[in-house]
Amino acid sequence: MGSADLVAQAKRAAAFAAVNKHVTPDVRVLGVGTGSTVVFVVERLAELRAQGQLHPELVCVPTSFQSSQLIVAAGLRPAELNDLPADGDGLHAPIDVTIDGADEVDAELNVIKGGGAAHLREKVVAAASRALVIVGDSTKDARVLGDKWAGGVPVEVAPLAWRTAKAQIERIALPGAFELAAPAATLRQAVRKAGPVVTDNGNFVLDVCFGRIHDPPAVERRVMMVPGVVEVGIFSGMACEAWFGNEDGTIACRI
Ligand code: 5RP
Repeated sequence: MGSADLVAQAKRAAAFAAVNKHVTPDVRVLGVGTGSTVVFVVERLAELRAQGQLHPELVCVPTSFQSSQLIVAAGLRPAELNDLPADGDGLHAPIDVTIDGADEVDAELNVIKGGGAAHLREKVVAAASRALVIVGDSTKDARVLGDKWAGGVPVEVAPLAWRTAKAQIERIALPGAFELAAPAATLRQAVRKAGPVVTDNGNFVLDVCFGRIHDPPAVERRVMMVPGVVEVGIFSGMACEAWFGNEDGTIACRI
């Protein structure tokens, strides 16, 4: 088996384990993340649906165009967050559980997301969920954010503000919060088309390298203060559990 196949197998094992544990027949509202690992989440959901093991009225809240396509193709029912009834505790967290991928997870379950440019909707859905469960292969499993993932922190910005936001982000100084003397931001470019990546929300993405991030909540808060920033791909303190698949077929769970 080639290395890409082994990585896919590792992602699949983590995705299946998370679905088996969390998508029990009493789950009525499920958040569905974005990315290549989530493809396996939906594959398992389709199997459970065919076996009659899902709640008959289960609805799935997508986090991107890709995610809504997967949900529909698997014969599951998509739902918009705004159409879900409030849950009575005043927080409007109507989603039982969301299962999503990640670019990196640290020892305290802080997460970098947005490799697929979907982190705005992913964070909104995560915040409306009673539990956020992360799935991925073991390359995502780090002690500190920035240990392994070299892609930087994705930051969604309004197109009109990308240059000013980039300049202001590169001047952020938070002593002790991250490794580099100054962050370095790059406007994400589309792979085959000329020009920047445009998100599902019509915005651009800056990938910001901080080196190792020692204080994810401080960096997340500070970047959010820059005018024109719509969302930052650091999810501090949101995940409750992460599953990592290894290439040898084993899986690890961090709680
Ligand atoms: C999309 C994301 C993805 O969940 C993240 O990039 C991981 O993707 P993959 O499962 O393909 O490795 O945050 O915005």
